[in-house]
Amino acid sequence: MNPAPLFTPVRMGDLELPNRIAMAPLTRMRADNPSHVPTDLQAAYYAQRAAAGVIVGEATAVSPDGFGWHDTPGLWSAEQVAGWRRVTEAVHGAGGRMIAQLWHTGSISHPDLRAGALPVSASAVDPVQRSVTAAGRVPTVTPRAMSVAEIRQTVADYATAARNAIAAGFDGVQILANFLYLPAQFLNKATNQRTDAYGGSIEGRARLTLEIVDAVASAVGPQRTGIKLSPMHESGPFQANDETLPAAEYVISRLTGLSHLLLMGAQTDFTGTPLEVLSGDGMFAHFRPLFDGTLIANTGMTGERGARLIETGLADVIAFGRPFIANPDLPARLAAGDPLADVDWSTVYAAGPAGYTDYPALPTRDLALAPAPVQS
Ligand SMILES: Cc1cc2nc3c(=O)[nH]c(=O)nc-3n(C[C@H](O)[C@H](O)[C@H](O)COP(=O)(O)O)c2cc1C
Repeated sequence: MNPAPLFTPVRMGDLELPNRIAMAPLTRMRADNPSHVPTDLQAAYYAQRAAAGVIVGEATAVSPDGFGWHDTPGLWSAEQVAGWRRVTEAVHGAGGRMIAQLWHTGSISHPDLRAGALPVSASAVDPVQRSVTAAGRVPTVTPRAMSVAEIRQTVADYATAARNAIAAGFDGVQILANFLYLPAQFLNKATNQRTDAYGGSIEGRARLTLEIVDAVASAVGPQRTGIKLSPMHESGPFQANDETLPAAEYVISRLTGLSHLLLMGAQTDFTGTPLEVLSGDGMFAHFRPLFDGTLIANTGMTGERGARLIETGLADVIAFGRPFIANPDLPARLAAGDPLADVDWSTVYAAGPAGYTDYPALPTRDLALAPAPVQS
């Protein structure tokens, strides 16, 4: 394959990326302290991956209410901002760029993570998933429906977390709006049974996401604001239904002037579902005309597929998640066509440096520095 298209510069909002390889957001559960402060180990891990055109940091709770996954970091306290500052300084020191991913888990949280309090969501609907607590993966519970005052507070919490991210030295933010978390819980008609302005129609169910986007863009600037949003077919009430695609189209077509949209391609089989048209490259072909910013394509990417998506105009940047876990020097390996190391899955959600900061980079092969061959 010719990897050259991945190695041309590109603008993403306010940022100039030296290449088109993004590190996708990866929760790794290394913020193992009661204050949810990112650690020096996390700084070392991200600095090792600074050759990415841009790093999207792991999902980070915007507020204590939004927190809902054991040993993950937050962005609401001064201590957390100071911890993140050490991370962004390490990444910038290694020549990289990094944005923060803003997270509210809603009903995926658990009373064990909230001093016994019920998690909050659009409606009192059990998402029928697993919560990740100190005791491991446990069944989710039925959450409590948020009041309108709580929704307004949550929107304000996103804006505060975005301001905190910039204060911590991040180069921008990304709103996590897919998977099973709060924005998706509001957007999905199976988990949102509200009859007020935040429910009912697609317009009503999309209101929370669009208000968050507006609040964050006003707080830090639209060119430093991006979003991860794509229709998905997951389990339980998150199986794709007849309004999953129209709801995503409604939101994405209303995002104007933002830095980027990170679209995940299908990660489950869409065959026979209302999302079948989005199979393969269909996800990118479908949404590209609806979005005016930098489009980041993700899920199961290879250097070859990424280069093709850029060449055919279906994407501007390619995000790699799992490949970055075991290949801190992924851009160099893609450039040289070197083999990729495999992930040790037993250490992905574990503690400490093993399987986190100890994956080696391949030795640098700089031909210009190699000794000239001896003539004989
Ligand atoms: C271990 C792990 C942790 C993840 N954590 C997050 C996360 O914090 N936020 C997010 O939006 N996606 C998360 N994802 C999804 C990835 O960002 C990415 O969208 C997905 O893995 C598909 O990309 P890939 O095929 O290159 O791995 C995670 C995926 C994995 C495997």
